[in-house]
Amino acid sequence: MVDAYETVCVTGAGGFAASWIVKLLLSNNYVVHGTVRQPGDSKYDHLNKLERSPENLKLFKADLLDYESLRLAISGCSGVFHVASPVPFPTAITDPEAEVLKPAVEGTLNVLKACVEAKVKRVVVVSSIAAVVKNPNWPKDQVKDERCWSDPEYVRSTKNWYYLSKTQAEAAALEFGRSSGLDVVTVCPSLIMGPLLQSTLNTSSWLLPMGFKGTRVNLVVSNLQRNVGYNYWTVVDARDLADALLLVYKKSEAGERYICTAHAIGVEEVVEKYLKISHPNYNYSPELTHTKEEEEKLSSEKLERLGWSYRPLGETLIDSIESYQKIRVMD
Ligand SMILES: NC(=O)c1ccc[n+]([C@@H]2O[C@H](COP(=O)([O-])OP(=O)(O)OC[C@H]3O[C@@H](n4cnc5c(N)ncnc54)[C@H](OP(=O)(O)O)[C@@H]3O)[C@@H](O)[C@H]2O)c1
Repeated sequence: MVDAYETVCVTGAGGFAASWIVKLLLSNNYVVHGTVRQPGDSKYDHLNKLERSPENLKLFKADLLDYESLRLAISGCSGVFHVASPVPFPTAITDPEAEVLKPAVEGTLNVLKACVEAKVKRVVVVSSIAAVVKNPNWPKDQVKDERCWSDPEYVRSTKNWYYLSKTQAEAAALEFGRSSGLDVVTVCPSLIMGPLLQSTLNTSSWLLPMGFKGTRVNLVVSNLQRNVGYNYWTVVDARDLADALLLVYKKSEAGERYICTAHAIGVEEVVEKYLKISHPNYNYSPELTHTKEEEEKLSSEKLERLGWSYRPLGETLIDSIESYQKIRVMD
């Protein structure tokens, strides 16, 4: 091991956002225990190519619903980044309880219990603005900050199972911290974009290719847009999110919650201001527009006060497209 000074665990290490935090941690000399469900699968090959991974990254087979597997991965760690959670296409969910809610909520509690057993000093839980924005009682024109919580009953009534899973999991995590004394901090990213480290497309990374005209992609989009309404984006780059997670790990007080978002923009503006300039040869779908009701006003001021900053949206979009082109999603 080269100058390593602390061992931390990252759950769901092979996922889109988690891979970037693993990369950042390794480059900062952390020893990383990464949990994956199918060790040996080629979908995790990118992790073995990260700088310092041969000496400082150890992968553990673990499922969020298997406490013992989490306990083994977390044992010996002083910190945990709990990133794993199901992020399915909304239209693909058939059994919300088994596929989304249970792994998110019970899984988070399993991670936290294993952290208590391992005497972990701090856990950073990746939540989502899904746990923030769906609050019909929040004053309409007031910017949403960390005091705003999605209303679980309202979200349940809309059958938005992913949003419900993130709301319940985050609330349970903070409550667990309060009642057990475990140091828990939550971070609520908006839509995560940016280049992929892995070679397959995760759910949120489909949104950008959707701006490009293509039969297969548009078929998926039209359903998704009707159901979820992703025509107004509040966006953060996965690389800036990784910075935010490490920053709160090092600097936050216990029990805090942070919204992590950088840009807010309608899809038509994404196309006109950025994509048509950087990639003029694609045929862009004219159907991409957003309504006033879809707009969200969110604040990451609290995170910025801690020292967080983020890159320009143009950089995120260009780097994302370049990485999608490499795996031929834009063809
Ligand atoms: N993407 C976004 O726009 C966005 C926005 C806000 C918040 N978030 C949150 O950010 C986190 C990462 O999201 P992502 O976009 O990077 O998703 P992703 O690429 O799909 O990664 C999700 C990870 O969760 C793991 N996972 C799912 N169910 C599991 C289970 N039962 N046991 C163990 N591991 C399980 C998966 O592991 P395997 O590799 O083993 O399948 C995968 O590595 C999630 O907590 C998500 O809610 C995402």
